[in-house]
Amino acid sequence: MAKLRIAVLVSGRGSNLQSIIDACASGEIPAEIGVVVSDKEKAYALERAGKAGIRAEYVPEQKDRELHEKAIAKIIDEEKCGLVCLAGYMKLVTRYFVSKYSGRLMNIHPSLLPSFGGAHGQRDALAYGAKVSGCTVHFVDEGMDSGPIIIQKVVTVEDNDTQDTLAARILKEEHKAYPEAIRLFAEDKLRIKGRRVSIKG
Ligand code: GRF
Repeated sequence: MAKLRIAVLVSGRGSNLQSIIDACASGEIPAEIGVVVSDKEKAYALERAGKAGIRAEYVPEQKDRELHEKAIAKIIDEEKCGLVCLAGYMKLVTRYFVSKYSGRLMNIHPSLLPSFGGAHGQRDALAYGAKVSGCTVHFVDEGMDSGPIIIQKVVTVEDNDTQDTLAARILKEEHKAYPEAIRLFAEDKLRIKGRRVSIKG
Protein backbone atom coordinates (compact mmCIF):
# COMPACT_ATOMS: atom_id res chain seq x y z
CA MET A 1 0.00 0.00 0.00
CA ALA A 2 1.29 3.48 -0.85
CA LYS A 3 2.38 5.60 2.09
CA LEU A 4 -0.27 8.02 3.34
CA ARG A 5 0.44 11.59 2.28
CA ILE A 6 -0.58 14.45 4.54
CA ALA A 7 -1.40 18.08 3.76
CA VAL A 8 -0.81 20.48 6.66
CA LEU A 9 -2.59 23.85 6.69
CA VAL A 10 -0.96 26.58 8.76
CA SER A 11 -1.09 30.31 9.45
CA GLY A 12 1.79 30.96 11.82
CA ARG A 13 4.86 29.68 13.64
CA GLY A 14 4.22 26.00 12.89
CA SER A 15 5.45 24.25 16.01
CA ASN A 16 2.77 21.57 15.56
CA LEU A 17 3.82 21.23 11.94
CA GLN A 18 7.38 20.67 13.19
CA SER A 19 6.23 17.89 15.51
CA ILE A 20 4.54 16.19 12.55
CA ILE A 21 7.62 16.66 10.34
CA ASP A 22 9.80 15.12 13.06
CA ALA A 23 7.45 12.21 13.71
CA CYS A 24 7.30 11.37 9.99
CA ALA A 25 11.10 11.58 9.75
CA SER A 26 11.65 9.32 12.76
CA GLY A 27 9.15 6.75 11.48
CA GLU A 28 6.77 7.28 14.43
CA ILE A 29 4.12 8.21 11.87
CA PRO A 30 4.06 5.86 8.86
CA ALA A 31 3.27 8.70 6.46
CA GLU A 32 4.86 11.64 4.69
CA ILE A 33 3.90 15.29 4.37
CA GLY A 34 2.99 16.01 0.74
CA VAL A 35 2.51 19.75 1.11
CA VAL A 36 2.25 22.60 3.61
CA VAL A 37 -0.20 25.36 2.71
CA SER A 38 -0.39 28.74 4.43
CA ASP A 39 -2.90 31.56 4.11
CA LYS A 40 -0.22 33.94 5.47
CA GLU A 41 2.77 34.76 3.34
CA LYS A 42 5.13 35.35 6.25
CA ALA A 43 4.19 32.27 8.27
CA TYR A 44 7.34 30.76 9.80
CA ALA A 45 5.75 27.36 9.18
CA LEU A 46 6.52 27.80 5.46
CA GLU A 47 10.22 28.11 6.31
CA ARG A 48 10.06 24.98 8.43
CA ALA A 49 8.57 23.11 5.48
CA GLY A 50 11.22 24.48 3.12
CA LYS A 51 14.01 23.42 5.48
CA ALA A 52 12.57 19.91 5.57
CA GLY A 53 12.39 19.78 1.77
CA ILE A 54 8.59 19.79 1.74
CA ARG A 55 6.54 21.64 -0.87
CA ALA A 56 5.39 24.89 0.73
CA GLU A 57 2.63 27.02 -0.79
CA TYR A 58 1.22 30.38 0.15
CA VAL A 59 -2.38 30.68 -1.02
CA PRO A 60 -3.57 34.27 -0.49
CA GLU A 61 -6.92 34.81 1.17
CA GLN A 62 -9.86 35.75 -1.01
CA LYS A 63 -13.16 37.40 -0.14
CA ASP A 64 -14.93 34.29 -1.38
CA ARG A 65 -13.77 31.69 1.16
CA GLU A 66 -14.87 28.79 -0.97
CA LEU A 67 -12.76 30.02 -3.91
CA HIS A 68 -9.79 30.27 -1.56
CA GLU A 69 -10.38 26.73 -0.36
CA LYS A 70 -10.77 25.47 -3.92
CA ALA A 71 -7.30 26.80 -4.69
CA ILE A 72 -5.99 24.99 -1.60
CA ALA A 73 -7.86 21.79 -2.46
CA LYS A 74 -6.34 21.79 -5.95
CA ILE A 75 -2.86 21.65 -4.39
CA ILE A 76 -3.86 19.02 -1.82
CA ASP A 77 -5.30 16.82 -4.55
CA GLU A 78 -2.33 17.38 -6.87
CA GLU A 79 -0.19 15.97 -4.07
CA LYS A 80 -2.60 13.05 -3.55
CA CYS A 81 -2.95 13.70 0.16
CA GLY A 82 -5.28 11.34 2.02
CA LEU A 83 -5.32 13.35 5.24
CA VAL A 84 -5.58 17.10 5.83
CA CYS A 85 -4.34 18.48 9.16
CA LEU A 86 -5.16 21.99 10.35
CA ALA A 87 -2.24 23.02 12.54
CA GLY A 88 -2.65 26.57 13.75
CA TYR A 89 -4.70 27.39 10.65
CA MET A 90 -6.61 30.40 11.89
CA LYS A 91 -9.61 30.25 9.59
CA LEU A 92 -12.91 28.47 9.90
CA VAL A 93 -13.27 26.14 6.94
CA THR A 94 -16.47 26.13 4.91
CA ARG A 95 -19.02 23.38 4.39
CA TYR A 96 -17.46 22.79 0.97
CA PHE A 97 -14.06 21.93 2.47
CA VAL A 98 -15.50 19.90 5.35
CA SER A 99 -17.58 17.71 3.09
CA LYS A 100 -14.80 17.30 0.51
CA TYR A 101 -12.42 15.97 3.16
CA SER A 102 -15.00 14.43 5.47
CA GLY A 103 -13.47 11.88 7.86
CA ARG A 104 -9.96 12.87 6.84
CA LEU A 105 -9.76 16.43 8.12
CA MET A 106 -8.28 17.00 11.61
CA ASN A 107 -7.62 19.97 13.86
CA ILE A 108 -5.78 20.58 17.11
CA HIS A 109 -7.17 22.91 19.74
CA PRO A 110 -5.48 24.14 22.95
CA SER A 111 -8.23 23.23 25.45
CA LEU A 112 -10.26 20.25 26.56
CA LEU A 113 -13.20 20.54 24.21
CA PRO A 114 -16.10 21.17 24.40
CA SER A 115 -14.82 23.70 26.97
CA PHE A 116 -13.14 26.84 25.73
CA GLY A 117 -13.45 26.51 21.97
CA GLY A 118 -12.58 29.54 19.83
CA ALA A 119 -9.46 31.59 19.36
CA HIS A 120 -8.36 31.89 23.03
CA GLY A 121 -8.57 28.42 24.55
CA GLN A 122 -5.74 28.90 27.04
CA ARG A 123 -6.71 32.41 28.15
CA ASP A 124 -10.35 31.44 28.59
CA ALA A 125 -9.57 28.34 30.69
CA LEU A 126 -7.36 30.43 32.98
CA ALA A 127 -9.89 33.25 33.28
CA TYR A 128 -12.65 30.77 34.09
CA GLY A 129 -10.62 29.26 36.90
CA ALA A 130 -10.46 25.75 35.45
CA LYS A 131 -8.16 23.44 37.45
CA VAL A 132 -7.25 21.35 34.42
CA SER A 133 -6.92 22.16 30.76
CA GLY A 134 -5.09 20.56 27.87
CA CYS A 135 -5.46 19.92 24.19
CA THR A 136 -7.81 18.12 21.84
CA VAL A 137 -7.26 16.59 18.43
CA HIS A 138 -10.56 16.17 16.63
CA PHE A 139 -12.06 15.54 13.25
CA VAL A 140 -13.47 18.71 11.75
CA ASP A 141 -17.18 19.16 11.17
CA GLU A 142 -19.11 22.24 10.15
CA GLY A 143 -19.05 23.86 13.58
CA MET A 144 -16.23 25.62 15.39
CA ASP A 145 -14.04 23.14 17.33
CA SER A 146 -17.01 20.78 17.51
CA GLY A 147 -16.13 17.62 15.58
CA PRO A 148 -15.63 14.08 16.96
CA ILE A 149 -12.74 13.90 19.45
CA ILE A 150 -9.79 11.63 18.68
CA ILE A 151 -7.34 12.32 21.51
CA GLN A 152 -7.16 14.64 24.52
CA LYS A 153 -4.25 15.33 26.85
CA VAL A 154 -4.69 16.96 30.24
CA VAL A 155 -2.47 19.46 32.03
CA THR A 156 -2.94 20.86 35.53
CA VAL A 157 -3.54 24.58 35.84
CA GLU A 158 -1.15 25.89 38.51
CA ASP A 159 -1.95 28.76 40.89
CA ASN A 160 0.82 30.91 39.47
CA ASP A 161 0.10 30.18 35.82
CA THR A 162 -0.06 33.02 33.35
CA GLN A 163 -1.53 32.66 29.90
CA ASP A 164 2.00 32.11 28.56
CA THR A 165 3.08 29.45 31.05
CA LEU A 166 -0.17 27.54 30.64
CA ALA A 167 0.01 27.81 26.83
CA ALA A 168 3.59 26.50 26.88
CA ARG A 169 2.65 23.50 29.02
CA ILE A 170 -0.32 22.73 26.79
CA LEU A 171 1.82 23.12 23.66
CA LYS A 172 4.19 20.38 24.88
CA GLU A 173 1.21 18.04 25.03
CA GLU A 174 -0.01 19.19 21.62
CA HIS A 175 3.30 18.09 20.18
CA LYS A 176 2.63 14.56 21.46
CA ALA A 177 -1.10 14.42 20.75
CA TYR A 178 -1.10 15.45 17.08
CA PRO A 179 1.53 12.94 15.93
CA GLU A 180 -0.26 10.24 17.96
CA ALA A 181 -3.62 10.97 16.32
CA ILE A 182 -2.06 11.04 12.87
CA ARG A 183 -0.25 7.76 13.52
CA LEU A 184 -3.56 6.12 14.49
CA PHE A 185 -5.17 7.45 11.31
CA ALA A 186 -2.23 6.29 9.18
CA GLU A 187 -2.50 2.83 10.75
CA ASP A 188 -6.23 2.80 9.95
CA LYS A 189 -7.13 2.42 13.61
CA LEU A 190 -9.73 5.19 13.90
CA ARG A 191 -13.46 4.58 13.46
CA ILE A 192 -15.99 7.40 13.62
CA LYS A 193 -19.46 6.48 14.88
CA GLY A 194 -21.58 9.58 15.28
CA ARG A 195 -19.77 11.77 17.78
CA ARG A 196 -17.53 8.99 19.04
CA VAL A 197 -14.19 7.94 17.66
CA SER A 198 -13.06 4.48 18.67
CA ILE A 199 -9.46 3.38 18.52
CA LYS A 200 -8.78 -0.18 17.42
CA GLY A 201 -6.24 -1.92 19.67
C1 GRF B 1 -1.69 25.84 18.77
O1 GRF B 1 -1.86 26.16 20.11
C2 GRF B 1 -2.90 25.12 18.22
O2 GRF B 1 -3.53 24.30 19.15
C3 GRF B 1 -3.80 26.27 17.85
O3 GRF B 1 -2.94 27.26 17.33
C4 GRF B 1 -1.64 27.08 17.88
C5 GRF B 1 -0.71 26.91 16.73
O4 GRF B 1 0.64 26.84 17.12
N1 GRF B 1 -4.83 25.84 16.93
P1 GRF B 1 1.74 26.40 16.08
O5 GRF B 1 1.62 27.32 14.86
O6 GRF B 1 1.52 24.97 15.71
O7 GRF B 1 3.04 26.61 16.79
